[in-house]
Amino acid sequence: MTTADVGGLRDEVERLLDGPLPLPIVQAGHPVLRRPAAPYEGQLGERLLARLLEAMRVTMLAAPGVGLAAPQVGLGVAIAVVQDEWPVDDEAAAARERRPVPFRVLVNPAYEPVGDERVAFYEGCLSVHGWQAVTARWRSVRLRALDADGAQVDEVLTGWPARIVQHETDHLAGRLYVDSAEMRSLCSAAEAARWAAATPHEAACELGFTLP
Ligand code: CO
Repeated sequence: MTTADVGGLRDEVERLLDGPLPLPIVQAGHPVLRRPAAPYEGQLGERLLARLLEAMRVTMLAAPGVGLAAPQVGLGVAIAVVQDEWPVDDEAAAARERRPVPFRVLVNPAYEPVGDERVAFYEGCLSVHGWQAVTARWRSVRLRALDADGAQVDEVLTGWPARIVQHETDHLAGRLYVDSAEMRSLCSAAEAARWAAATPHEAACELGFTLP
């Protein structure tokens, strides 16, 4: 990393934080979503990093979403925030293994599957506004990352929390969920109420795709 890169990212973040909140979320088609993000190596310093993380948290909650990666606010650096404390009905929560995830920061995250089980559910992305599609993910993953204080994270996640971490970590590699989603399940916001069931089994029958 050169000094110019450090200054470049700092300037970009300062400019972004001078603007309004919530931060604008860039949409699919913007190249920043397709470039692997640079590792975070302290480029921002403690205070600017804290301000960015708070702005990302506010933006994620306002959207509303359960995760937001830095490229989604135009920054090519490997930082994401997640939080899932939205109310969910019991049936959906059980089927999706969706448990509350308190706010957390993922710096330079990586994951690998634990076991070989794949599970498929409707998934969306704040950068693919208005659409959702069934996406198969590892049911369990081992997450390795740093937290906001630079402490090592190494843990195994299962169910919806594992899905969120896979989605956000993929953003930092320039991947979007639509790259691996079942395209026959693609569903616009106008039709989303049809497929609000806890599992996508009926959608699979009606729209003509198979589940893992
Ligand atoms: Co996303």
